[in-house]
Amino acid sequence: MRVVSGIQPTGNLHLGNYLGAIRNWVRMQDEMEEGNRAQAAEGGSADRNDCLFFLADLHAISQPHNPAELASATLEMTAALVACGIDPNRSILFNQAQVPAHAELQWLLNGTARMGWLNRMTQWKDKAGKNREGQSVALFTYPVLQAADVLLYQATHVPVGEDQKQHLELARDIAQKFNNDFCSEDAPVFTLPEPIVPPEAARIMSLRDGSAKMSKSDPSDMSRINLSDDADEIMKKVKKAKTDPEPLPSEAAGLEGRPEALNLVGIYCALTGKTTDDVLGEFGGQGFGVFKPALGEVLVETVSPITARFRELKADREALDTILARGAARARELGLPTLGKAYKALGL
Ligand code: ADP
Ligand code: NA
Repeated sequence: MRVVSGIQPTGNLHLGNYLGAIRNWVRMQDEMEEGNRAQAAEGGSADRNDCLFFLADLHAISQPHNPAELASATLEMTAALVACGIDPNRSILFNQAQVPAHAELQWLLNGTARMGWLNRMTQWKDKAGKNREGQSVALFTYPVLQAADVLLYQATHVPVGEDQKQHLELARDIAQKFNNDFCSEDAPVFTLPEPIVPPEAARIMSLRDGSAKMSKSDPSDMSRINLSDDADEIMKKVKKAKTDPEPLPSEAAGLEGRPEALNLVGIYCALTGKTTDDVLGEFGGQGFGVFKPALGEVLVETVSPITARFRELKADREALDTILARGAARARELGLPTLGKAYKALGL
């Protein structure tokens, strides 16, 4: 298996980013590692399982952006990923911009992708809205870069959320058309990647408003647990989190219509791996005066080690540069044969 996945670099990372996105990568990395160990124990297979995780900094320029912020977000995201458990010795962790083959392959694939295919992308339609003429060409061809991102490495599996399924379909269509048009049947250049639907990701809501997503864009810092918060800040935020006056119900159905309670219980479940029923079995009938300190403790237990490592790494620019440079060197090496084959197939 070769899993390839990208994430847009963002700063001000929070609990929602960790539970909703980063933690899935850590799980995948660990599963790959387990697979490798099992294969080795069985006498070994030649095919290693690999994860390539990249920061999609090339994608970030498809919309108006601040260059200085992009550079620092890329480093911050790298620090967060490593702090959360992505091991740069086990996974290949890099940023796109340091691997020119992504942009090169995109250009080669632009010859295969059809305008009609891109015009049908719902994300393009949503993001461009009524102002298509004013959008960057990059926003339109973004899915072709995504195709290049995974096809370059012969990805066998790509984790996709609901909103990315259509783009992976497009990557497969591009790969198939390229193979059909330019390759002999027994020597296709590209592997058609399969989607992996990651286990249902926790959607974490704001601590101040149960109907809004926890987000870096929320002006209130009390609305989120940042990956840079210390234990006191975490406890304070949980204590001040918005709730209703009722005690916790003893069954999940009792959380209906109580978004704040549902969110806090959801966070507790996501952190401990317990089911809602388990948690309500334990805390049902109790007020938030009991539940909040318990939640705070679990949060501190999980988030504090990450926070400490994150702060340390964020301050060590050299270490981050080294991690990304090493990852990029490995990615370049892995991608180069495919890029060479694509050039050759096209008569270039
Ligand atoms: P933000 O909303 O803070 O701007 P981003 O849009 O940069 O976050 O999201 C980065 C990643 O983190 C995405 O994969 C997104 O799905 C995930 N994510 C962001 N906020 C949450 C949340 N509140 N709950 C779960 N996942 C989230
Ligand atoms: Na956002």
